[in-house]
Amino acid sequence: MTWVFSRSLRDMQLKRPKRLTTVLLSATVLGVNACSPSIGATAPSQVANPGNPPAGAGMPGAAGIGDPDFPKDGNGGYDVDHYALKLAYDPPTQSLSGTASVKAKAVQSLSRFDLDLHGFTVRKVTVDGRDATFTRDGDELVITPSSVIADGTTFTVAVDYAGKPDPVRNSSNLGTYGFIPTKDGAFVTSEPNGARTWFPCNDHPADKATYDFDVTVPAGTTVVANGEMRGAPVTSGGRSTFSWREGHPMATYLATITLGKFDVKTGKTADGIPLYAAVDPTYRRNLDFLYSVSSKVTDYWSKVFGPYPFSSTGGVIDDFAAGYALENQTKPMYGGFDPDESIIAHELAHQWFGDSLSVKRWKDLWLNEGFATYAEWLWSEHNGGATAQATFDDYYADTKAPIWQYPPGVAQPKDLFNGSVYIRGAMTLQALRQRIGDQTFFTLLRTWTDQHKYGNVTTDEFVKLAEKLSGQQLDALFDAWLFKPVRPSQQ
Ligand code: TRP
Ligand code: ZN
Repeated sequence: MTWVFSRSLRDMQLKRPKRLTTVLLSATVLGVNACSPSIGATAPSQVANPGNPPAGAGMPGAAGIGDPDFPKDGNGGYDVDHYALKLAYDPPTQSLSGTASVKAKAVQSLSRFDLDLHGFTVRKVTVDGRDATFTRDGDELVITPSSVIADGTTFTVAVDYAGKPDPVRNSSNLGTYGFIPTKDGAFVTSEPNGARTWFPCNDHPADKATYDFDVTVPAGTTVVANGEMRGAPVTSGGRSTFSWREGHPMATYLATITLGKFDVKTGKTADGIPLYAAVDPTYRRNLDFLYSVSSKVTDYWSKVFGPYPFSSTGGVIDDFAAGYALENQTKPMYGGFDPDESIIAHELAHQWFGDSLSVKRWKDLWLNEGFATYAEWLWSEHNGGATAQATFDDYYADTKAPIWQYPPGVAQPKDLFNGSVYIRGAMTLQALRQRIGDQTFFTLLRTWTDQHKYGNVTTDEFVKLAEKLSGQQLDALFDAWLFKPVRPSQQ
């Protein structure tokens, strides 16, 4: 299953359409789940004391953020503003330790709340500097502050923890993800919910925050995190500390502290965006390619999709044979293969679609993967290769492909990264472009990224904007392409 998963993603990314659609896509067909509680709502069933508490007593935050497909992911009751992670990692012993300071705002009166954390020994928890009591319940770190936190208050939780990270390995449908030890360090790619394998967090893209990373490693090891370095690494006593900061809101799964031996090349794109490229020495031959393609793709997408949303761009190739890539904010990671232009175009398109605009619930994942796959088709078109329409036609001609049975507008938790979410998602955009014309279509993409910059989005919002800008009724088109388990008849 894992093999199928990672092969399928990789095949998709390496563009082997026929194999992918005919052999590798799973054909799970499930009904459309039209009703789901809103994100952030406190589900009454999850509240310990649903009666009327005395004023000022506070209530526990809900055990999940409100994504019905991932009921325990994230938490209710607070909104994270900033993570400050002061960590040390020792590759030979695979030991990770340190303190995560989580600055958050209470969105209810809070007697108790959870953070997601998988494994580790928690040594101490404080809330605003005062000792808090805590227990562990599966992947929840349940924290009771010494006094109730009033609704609307900003507070800081400091979690002191240590242990050997335990990534999610060979999960039946999501492969291996999280903090994954490698020969010389770690490959850190956490989609969809692996951030908890290396820091306590509100582990769902609906709660985005800024980050500071201070990571200490043996001298000679390089740490690559999101955003920009705050200065040169500081080395003393055989250890180096790297400080990175991501100053734009970021989903937990996009955070990384990938570390190991790296060759690094830095500079700016032609349009002036700072660029950081790093490759494991095994992939030294790819450094210039990674650097130059990332540079020209970032500049090109900035014209097509709207201004680049972050303060720097880049990419990292590690020697961990993941067979996939992940769009970590500002630092896409390529795991154990020579990336081609197409996959770099895909991961950098995600900086707009997925990273700046993040899903509010995982079932809308086509808003990430459909758009990033469509970007591959645009990159080909831009370079005189197959047009997006020709690519669409190829897929459309395959009447027996499993994508027709899987409606991409409802990504299933059992098969979240199904090829339909990628390919039929991208086909939806081509069908839309055909219908509303190039000018409106590209204005729509830029308006979409502008209106929801750094935020969270839903399919419904995209459909509404498309209808508004085109002046057309588009529900039949979106319904046929995104929500029906059959091949749409109209093109
Ligand atoms: N979002 C990634 C892409 O399309 C694929 C992916 C899914 C992934 N789950 C992952 C990558 C976990 C790394 C880890 O490029
Ligand atoms: Zn993708």
